[in-house]
Amino acid sequence: MKINFKITVFLLLFMVSAIGCEKKEEVEEVEEQVNEESLTLKSAFADDFFIGSAVNDNHINGKDTLALQLIGKEFNTLTPENIMKWMNIHPEENTFNYDMSDQYVALGEKNNMHIVGHTLVWHSQLAPYINTISDSATMADNLKSHINTIVGKYKGRIHSWDVVNEALNEDGTLRESIFLKVMGNDYINYAFQLAALADPAAELNYNDYNLWKPEKRAGVVQLVKDLQAKGTKIDGVGMQAHWSLEGPSIEDIENSILAYSDLGVKVMFTELDVTVLPNPWDLNGAAVEQNYDKFEGDPTMNPYPNTLPDSIQNKLAKRYEDIFNLFLKHKDKISRVTFWGVHDGQSWLNDWPIKGRTNHPLLFDRKLNPKKAYQQIIGLKKQN
Ligand code: XIL
Repeated sequence: MKINFKITVFLLLFMVSAIGCEKKEEVEEVEEQVNEESLTLKSAFADDFFIGSAVNDNHINGKDTLALQLIGKEFNTLTPENIMKWMNIHPEENTFNYDMSDQYVALGEKNNMHIVGHTLVWHSQLAPYINTISDSATMADNLKSHINTIVGKYKGRIHSWDVVNEALNEDGTLRESIFLKVMGNDYINYAFQLAALADPAAELNYNDYNLWKPEKRAGVVQLVKDLQAKGTKIDGVGMQAHWSLEGPSIEDIENSILAYSDLGVKVMFTELDVTVLPNPWDLNGAAVEQNYDKFEGDPTMNPYPNTLPDSIQNKLAKRYEDIFNLFLKHKDKISRVTFWGVHDGQSWLNDWPIKGRTNHPLLFDRKLNPKKAYQQIIGLKKQN
């Protein structure tokens, strides 16, 4: 009898504790689910680097309310995709258009974001009057007026500037831009000095594509060293990161991260996207002025006009996972990762280098739903 009683008490205790355990596990599971669901890009990577997106006119003027909700939820840094380029913000010598740039800065401030200025000195999307200048002193005056006025106007409000964009050729030599032709090598140093004077606290960066390439990497290293030797302030190197499913290799990207951070500057990935479309020709990087009209309307160049097949969706997710694994490995050297566009429907890669294609290079699809690549990179933080 006594034994039976003991056994019964033991069984009861066992059952109560088992139920307790099950409850605890259930509670933990629910807690985990809530945490996972509430993770966004900016919360997941909060301790690692800023994470952001380029924004277009309809984000800035408030018309694209759905994308704006997503921007506010997912990102903590913004870059203006086009509105601050020379031809838009300073189309004529004495004309500055601040309508869109004021709204852009206000959008970043409303969301408490790290606000990027893109870009001060670039050979592309330039105001036509600059191309008519043929003497060095006039070019210097125009650089001065452009940089002083714009950086000065947003002093303390734009936190980071792409001061010079795409000044290098693929072999690391300096590009024969109008600035180089008219002013010689020193235009880069001059631009950085002007920006530092106009806002001493702003972060000043050199930005370019294909910076994973060893020869171009060497060119950037030289450019940064030259500025540093002159005592000119340069804070970071922006690697644009217009990449594909196949390349560049993680090793090449890593070697550039190491080479740039060895110079004592921050590394940023400023225009990240991963094209899934065929590029059978030698694209020679992302030089925007190349012309591939002859491929327009060719269905073999536009294989996923409706949805992206699972096999490619998975490849894209794996590619983003590999890229973000590398970013996390070097989070002490990387200060910002910015995607070039909010969702696939808004990517410049639908029209470049061939117009009218359907590309799928970002983390959100055309309905603004997160893709597998999004889950995959957030997953890297869940594992930790
Ligand atoms: C692109 C924009 O996304 C397009 O809308 C525009 O037509 C051309 O420029 N490198 C840069 C970016 O630094 O400014 C470019 O943006 C893409 C390549």
